[in-house]
Order: sequence, then C-alpha cells, then structure tokens
Amino acid sequence: MTLEELEAARKKSLEETAAATDAAATEALRVKYTGRNGLIPALVKGMKDVPKEERPAFGKAVQAWRAEIEAALAAKSAASPAAAAGEIDSSMPGDWFRPGAEHPLSRVIEDTARIFARLGFTVADGPDIENRFNNFTALNTPAHHPSIDRTDTFWLAEDALLRTQTSPVQIRTMMANKPPVRVICPGRTYRRDTTDATHSANFHQIEGLYVDVKPVSLADLKSTLAYFAREMMGPDIGVRFRPHFFPFTEPSVEVDFTCHVCRGKGCAVCKQSGWIEIAGAGMVDPRVFKHVGYDPESVSGYAFGFGVERIAMIKYGIPDIRWLYENDLRFLSQFG
Ligand code: PHE
Repeated sequence: MTLEELEAARKKSLEETAAATDAAATEALRVKYTGRNGLIPALVKGMKDVPKEERPAFGKAVQAWRAEIEAALAAKSAASPAAAAGEIDSSMPGDWFRPGAEHPLSRVIEDTARIFARLGFTVADGPDIENRFNNFTALNTPAHHPSIDRTDTFWLAEDALLRTQTSPVQIRTMMANKPPVRVICPGRTYRRDTTDATHSANFHQIEGLYVDVKPVSLADLKSTLAYFAREMMGPDIGVRFRPHFFPFTEPSVEVDFTCHVCRGKGCAVCKQSGWIEIAGAGMVDPRVFKHVGYDPESVSGYAFGFGVERIAMIKYGIPDIRWLYENDLRFLSQFG
C-alpha cells in the first residue's frame, strides 16, 4: 500500500464511521479497522515489506490513523443509538421526577398525633363498620334519636353500619383497657350528606379521650385543647367553650379557636366574630361509663372530637372540601 492509498483508506474509514447509525454498525467498523484481524494491525505487520526510506513516514501515518479512527469509534458508541440516529436531542433537559408530597389530611392527622403524644396520648384504632351498640347505644344515644335514622346513617345490615363518628372508638378503648386511658382516634366517618363545598359523605374525624381514677375536670379539657390550638394553629390562638348538647358528654360544649386569619379581630372567614367552631367536647357521661363496665363513682374523664377536613381547610386556606379527594397533583404538590 502506498502513502496515497493509505490516505484514501483513512478518509473512507472516517466517512464510514460518521455514517454508522447503530451500535452494530460501529462494532463492525471497529472489527474491520482496529480488530485483531483488522486492516490497521495488518498494515503494522506488513511494515517490513515497505521500502526502507518510506518506512518512517508510513509508520507515522498508520499510527495517526489508528488514533483517529479509535477516537471516532469511541465517540460513536458513547452516544446512544437513538442519539446516533438523530432521534434524540441530547441538549434538551431531562425528565424530572418530583418527590411525593404528604396529603393535607395525613398531615393534620400526623401533626395531631405528634402534639398529643407529648401529653401522653397514644393512637387507638377502630373499624369503619360498627354495630349499633358502639356507635349509638353505649354512647347514650336514645333509640329514637334522628342520627340513627336511615336518612342520616348508612346502614349495611340489621346491626351493621358505617360509623357516623369516631366516638365508638371511645367505647372499644374503654372496654379493652382499665383506666387511666389517654387516646386519640383518627379515622374515616360516614354520613348521608349531599356533597358540596363544605360537606362530604365520607370525611375524617379525630376523637380524644382521657379517663382517670383521679378527678378530671372541664379545666383539664380546656387547657389540653388550648395547648393543641397553639401547637396546631399558632402561638396567639385561644380557645372558648360554648354550652352544647351531646348524648355522651355532660356537660357538653362546642369548642371555638381564635380565627387564625384575623387573629380575633373579626373578618369574613369568621363572619366578624373572631372565632371559628372546631370541635365538640365534654365530660364523659356516667351512663357511658356504665355501658363499658367502668364505675362512674370512681372514674372521670373528658372526650372531644373534631373534623380533620375542617382543620385542614382553615389551616391551609382550602375553600372546597372536594379538592381533598380529587387527587389533582396541581393541588397536592403544594403540600410538599
Ligand atoms: N362525636 C361528636 C360529633 O361527631 C363530637 C364529639 C366527640 C363530641 C366527643 C363530644 C365528645 O359531632
């Protein structure tokens, strides 16, 4: 091979490499030119037949060709086949996988559990499908009470219903444990409500129950809820009690927190009152203690219950309860 022929072969090899469109074609060129039985090693082997005076120039040219074709082949195989075929623009930014975000309802439940854990409360659980005794009778709800009606409660069978509140977990907890008990019970609850911006037929509540053999007072309940209000909503949030009625507590109260938007001054969110209704609560009725086998003369306690959606909506300024169930990432990703 003359020097001119060598130059022609070099050019051809580089053109072939540039035209290779997949990994197999690139590999075939590597075998053809630099492989053990390839053209370049054959030329090196044949150096002894090259006229002596041409040998240094010929040798140099072969080595330069080898370096060049090796670099060109390496660059080809580093690019993906798709990139080699021109299907991918490797200068485009890559896909970005956003880390998941905690759902606002889970967040409220976790925060509540953490806050009450500091006060010695553990988390208790109960089933969504309950019986009449746990959901109504043991909670001192008279048999004619409207909440038992088919228009309010999802009845599944003669003695099976979707629990309308987390209060039946109070009953389960007391029947399974001796006092003192200190639990919160988060969970799903069901009512035959028509869905709109503030109602859902399947929502969440968190129940609280503290029963002890030493006297428990309404003041204990108030200070506990005041601590929760500050930890959950902010340091300048206060608590007020308004008299109310629940069959399973006596006395019963409705619990308001200072409006977190205007901080009590009065605004559209709190309808100028400075307060927002948060929970139902009260001292456990002696008749409930009797139903679970506790002696009402030697134990006392308080209970409370609030809606998880309600806390999430006011804390995060969510105007429509349905947003919490639609799994729209544009909404959910804001809670990361
Ligand atoms: N279970 C009541 C409700 O759903 C709330 C509540 C719980 C009231 C505990 C008093 C004590 O409205």
